Amino acid sequence: MLNSHLCSIFEYLEAKLLQIFKTFTDLREQLDSGQGSVGFVPTMGALHEGHVSLVRRAAAENTRVVVSIFVNPTQFNDPADLEKYPRNLEQDLQILESLGSQLFVVCPAVSELYGDRLESKIYDLAHLSEVMEGAMRPGHYQGVATVVEKLLKEVRPDQAYFGEKDFQQFKVIERLVALESIDVRLVQCPIAREHHGLARSSRNELLSPQARRDAGVIYAVLQQIKKDYQAGDYSYPFLKSKGIRELSKIPNSRVEYFILADEESLEEIESLGDSTKVRAFVAVQLEKIRLIDTLNYQE
Ligand code: PAF
Repeated sequence: MLNSHLCSIFEYLEAKLLQIFKTFTDLREQLDSGQGSVGFVPTMGALHEGHVSLVRRAAAENTRVVVSIFVNPTQFNDPADLEKYPRNLEQDLQILESLGSQLFVVCPAVSELYGDRLESKIYDLAHLSEVMEGAMRPGHYQGVATVVEKLLKEVRPDQAYFGEKDFQQFKVIERLVALESIDVRLVQCPIAREHHGLARSSRNELLSPQARRDAGVIYAVLQQIKKDYQAGDYSYPFLKSKGIRELSKIPNSRVEYFILADEESLEEIESLGDSTKVRAFVAVQLEKIRLIDTLNYQE
């Protein structure tokens, strides 16, 4: 029933703006028969305004745009997290269609990308896999790098688009592309926020309406500490503990980290003046849902 419903949606959309592919083999055939630059937006679905801004940017800068929708099992270190990750293909396709651009959408099966070996490759990610998200989610970035390498090699885009919210992920992908000599330009796009400041994320829809409103405090704290940082009157340990204290006031929250780090190395600073490219990074669990955010403190 659901399948035949989805099939008719596929047919309807296919005649219009979206061309939907279930395999990379079919997508490649299509891409090879056309011309012009290819922009690529890899996603895990549950699309929101953040993804929309990436797709719009890719459409403005390329002749052809590919969006992949694939919930990558190897980047989930917690099976329960993978299980509850939001999935809504029907709605995703409607959102993409509403953008009014011609798009190639690929929704591959796990077996096409992984065959019968559902495991990550091991890359030398150095400290990137040891700090912040790397420390909190062991194996996460090896899984991200594994799938992104596969996706980039299948799609072969000229440019690939990622959100600033996952700043550490962007650094991992920069390193992956250098390690594997993949010829692609990586483009980072600004964070899209909900009206009360919460960074848009597919996980936001797992929050209760109250927690979603409360989560606006995360951005408010990032901005408040930025002001304090720029005033230059406080030590780093003071700013760090103030940030953690303020975030801990959000009901049902557990702060995983709030740190200031150098944007390039992602090493935590020890004192103000250690770096000229400081950025704040935060991870908070709210109702057991992990939320991350980041803010540049230099600009
Ligand atoms: O940022 C994401 O949505 C995912 O980590 C990505 C890059 C699509 C890889 O699965």
